[in-house]
Amino acid sequence: MEEKRKQLRIGLAGLGNVGTGVYKNLLKNQDLLSERTGTTLVVTKIAVRDINRKRDIEVPKELITSNWNELIEDPDIDVIVELIGGVDEAFKLISGALNANKAVVTGNKAVLAERGKELIELSEKQNAPLYCEAAVAGGIPIIKAVKEALIGNRIGSIYGIINGTSNYILTRMNSGGIEFSEALAEATEKGYAEADPSLDINGWDAGHKAIILGWLSYGQWLRTEEVSVIGIEDISLDDVAFADDLGYEIKLLGVIRQAKNDERIEVRVSPNLIPKDHILSSVDGVFNAVAVHGDVVGETLFYGSGAGQDATSSAVISDLADAAENINNRVGCTGFVPKGEFGTVLPLSETISQYYLRLSVADRPGVLAKIATITANHDVGILSVIQPEPESSTEHIPLVLLLHDASYGTVQAALKSILELDTVEPKHTLLRVETLEQ
Ligand code: HSE
Repeated sequence: MEEKRKQLRIGLAGLGNVGTGVYKNLLKNQDLLSERTGTTLVVTKIAVRDINRKRDIEVPKELITSNWNELIEDPDIDVIVELIGGVDEAFKLISGALNANKAVVTGNKAVLAERGKELIELSEKQNAPLYCEAAVAGGIPIIKAVKEALIGNRIGSIYGIINGTSNYILTRMNSGGIEFSEALAEATEKGYAEADPSLDINGWDAGHKAIILGWLSYGQWLRTEEVSVIGIEDISLDDVAFADDLGYEIKLLGVIRQAKNDERIEVRVSPNLIPKDHILSSVDGVFNAVAVHGDVVGETLFYGSGAGQDATSSAVISDLADAAENINNRVGCTGFVPKGEFGTVLPLSETISQYYLRLSVADRPGVLAKIATITANHDVGILSVIQPEPESSTEHIPLVLLLHDASYGTVQAALKSILELDTVEPKHTLLRVETLEQ
């Protein structure tokens, strides 16, 4: 006789883009999941903000409530999936669920980056697991990879394209030659951007994900003020074209790494020029990729859809399978949580890279020589220069410099002196160039 399947009763909080994907795909692959996990995964209640909102999927009315507290208070619910987004309300929901000894699955990188330390401590205290595979890089299983599969490694570096919206916009600017605002509208329409897309373009969506990867790699939750985050909003088609001429492509990059010959760690996000012959430069559109270097495994690369309904719901469902295993088979496992804390934070001014500097300078003899003298005085070498022929007679022309490895503080000091020259306009672009060595 066939063994009666166990059930995992799921309370779903949030039926937006990802919540809809979770509901739809749990139904779509119900039999497969049941076979694979030995458990039937059933959504028994769904909390939404607006009961009357028209939705793309049919959901039985009796499942819907407008009060997420009902999920916490329902003794028949085993696991709560938090997909409401934001920080304060999500924190109340997750901590309420953990306090009620329910497992929680969240895709919310903002609440983890801001309050993850408290939530993980609560999860451990309550012996109630908190899973977050969907919080970083959408459908790519990077959380489980760093947390579990690479546990035997010291992580030297993680370089990640971890915001699908920014990557989509930069790709469209690069290969389609279309303007920033048009590309953003496309990404929003395709469901890649956050409800508030400012977090995508100001870099903080990636910043939150970088903080989570920093925790998994080095055991410590960096505070948001310890992380340098710059978004793509000031990138112009001119920068994209100059980078191309120099043999690079501009990508919003999360850098999580241990400084060379140093115990200190850096976690930062910014638009970077990366070499066109590096594999990360061919990661286009909404795709994300994360290159992890471990001292035992060497180089690894994880690639896949970093945003969107189906890809992200695949990650949520993987956590639900873990929760089913944990709850129904009583393995007593809350998921591995990194314990040791490694390194202290490297101040931004001491972080080292090459740089791309675009200036607008007077079209007069001697200007380049003065700029080169300033960089030399700061011990910053120039790797290459582009000074395009002016198309018409104009007072100011662009001058693009590629600068050698230097600390951010040194380059800022040199830049300050350069901008004091009366032949240099205040408007400029300074971007990092990452060679992507481990
Ligand atoms: N808005 C996010 C992105 C969704 O574009 O990557 C996935 O976190």
